[in-house]
Amino acid sequence: MPKAVSLFSGCGGSDAGVISAGFEVVMANDILTYARDVYCANHPETDFVLGDIRKIKKFPDAELLVGCYPCQGFSQGGVRDAGRKINYLYLEFAKALLAIKPKAFIVENVSGMVRKDFEHLLIDQKKVFTDAGYCVKAKVLNAADFGVAQERRRIFIVGIRDDIDLEYVFPEPTHGKSRAQPYVTIKDALKGMRHWPEGEFYDRDFHWYYMSRDRRRDWNELSKTIVANARHMPLHPISPKLVKVAHDEWRFVEDRPARRFSYREASRLQGFAKGFKFPDTESGSLSMRYMVAGNAVPPPLFEAVSKALPNIWS
Ligand SMILES: C[S@@+](CC[C@H](N)C(=O)[O-])C[C@H]1O[C@@H](n2cnc3c(N)ncnc32)[C@H](O)[C@@H]1O
Repeated sequence: MPKAVSLFSGCGGSDAGVISAGFEVVMANDILTYARDVYCANHPETDFVLGDIRKIKKFPDAELLVGCYPCQGFSQGGVRDAGRKINYLYLEFAKALLAIKPKAFIVENVSGMVRKDFEHLLIDQKKVFTDAGYCVKAKVLNAADFGVAQERRRIFIVGIRDDIDLEYVFPEPTHGKSRAQPYVTIKDALKGMRHWPEGEFYDRDFHWYYMSRDRRRDWNELSKTIVANARHMPLHPISPKLVKVAHDEWRFVEDRPARRFSYREASRLQGFAKGFKFPDTESGSLSMRYMVAGNAVPPPLFEAVSKALPNIWS
């Protein structure tokens, strides 16, 4: 099995995909305690190093390096500030790349990075990785096209080491209209789950900002993007429909209970396996559970991107 090192690993969405693609993840890292707890409950075989990436000085050997550095600066939901320090964590990834010199690397990030105001960051990432000795390709992919019950557009940056004379080709979509398989719907993804899982969903009021847009999709549709903030989680289809009543103002069409997706439902809509564990540890508050599930890269999408790497491992 080729070995992989994972950075900014969160609760292990990207890594579940890497493992399904046939890699052994020998080291993972994140700064968030509950991400570590969830990761280790699901992948006890990986050496998970808890702490700030900036403090890690040594990495094990690996053929593949993966990492999904944070995106608060350029996500749709975050503060759109191209100058925020958190946007420069890709330099830490580049440091690990130079230290490990793997045959290939994969990075995932929010698609907002292709927007004009953040373009310089994307250009710089490509330059830094090219200067590190890699042939770099980037593409925006939608998780729905790879069997995930959710619209989630993310940019992938993939590099293959210069001395390996092969180019990376991004995978072709497998799911959707006139493709080999239909889209996976909310109904497919949540099959067998309880309709009112008390204690597992955020049940505070729907504030004005929440009601400023349509947050609901039907059972037979793809989910809206699963986010990391519980307050902004889309509505479960058991909720009444919403109707637009004014500019940036929506209302429920019926007066009956409505609720957001639970964190477990969010994880299923992200494409995590049915038995995915959220351990009850000290740091596992409801908002933390939502956060690690919403921050994750959908495993099937990361698996597709990893499997498309040429066979350069022997
Ligand atoms: C987009 S999420 C990664 C999701 C993960 N790849 C997955 O699929 O589950 C970014 C992660 O970077 C972590 N992070 C942020 N700053 C960090 C730092 N300085 N050192 C280590 N991890 C950090 C966050 O805690 C978060 O889990």
